[in-house]
Amino acid sequence: MAIVTLKELLTSASEKKVSVGAFSVGNMEMVLGAVRAAEELNTPIILQIAEVRLPTSPLDIIGPMMVAAAENSEVDICVHLDHGLNYETVEQALDLGFSSVMLDGSLLPIEENIELTQEVVELASEYGASVEAELGVVGGNEGGGKTHEIQCTDPLSAIKFCLETNIDALAVAIGNAHGNYPVAPKLRFDVLKAINAACKTPLVLHGGTGITPEDFQECIRNGIRKTNIATASFDAVTNAAKAMCNADGVNYFKLSQAMQDAVYENVKKHIKIFNMETI
Ligand code: 13P
Repeated sequence: MAIVTLKELLTSASEKKVSVGAFSVGNMEMVLGAVRAAEELNTPIILQIAEVRLPTSPLDIIGPMMVAAAENSEVDICVHLDHGLNYETVEQALDLGFSSVMLDGSLLPIEENIELTQEVVELASEYGASVEAELGVVGGNEGGGKTHEIQCTDPLSAIKFCLETNIDALAVAIGNAHGNYPVAPKLRFDVLKAINAACKTPLVLHGGTGITPEDFQECIRNGIRKTNIATASFDAVTNAAKAMCNADGVNYFKLSQAMQDAVYENVKKHIKIFNMETI
């Protein structure tokens, strides 16, 4: 199979009424574990990395690894820059062969978010790549820094945003937040339904870690076509490494395999939910 754009994957997901899992990666074990799960379930996925992760996983090193994993995979894979913070990073990701990018303008006033996103859409089109943008504010934070208050996406603004930017995917804020939820989230399905009724653009759910399978599937029934999972995979790797370090006869190779296996299990579990399998 091949590296494909986000648009291609989300068009197919819309037809099948499923969501594509977007799995954050930070090292080779995470890439290999995610791809193994996708191949075993014969399901396309998105491999992504957020700009805040680049100090520990430099884009010029991990980016080519993600692209190679996608190109060599038995399933279609989109390679996506998640929460880009700078135009230059978006450009670097596109130069490395990423098939989708996001420059997060969600904290800007809507007109500035639109203008920034239009520039990214124009740039990405030169590479044949897709664009995701966010409107409203998803809570928590993606990798340290300030915690954001949730501001649900306004459905009317979503129509204007999608029409004026021509993006391929819209990340919505419906009570979701990045990181581990301190209390179980109460997702605003009323807001999601209103956005989905108003907007033709495929919708994205960030902050997937800690959302119940039932809530994931209700989101998918209401237009979510890309679902992001980061913290659950990072925690799985960390916990696997901790357990390994206390085990007898541990060596680097067993540690590497344990980290890959932990991500594989987490990704596999989520793909089944996103494929609308009965839980
Ligand atoms: P979690 O870390 O909560 O899974 O969120 C992932 C995400 O939305 C990445 O952008």
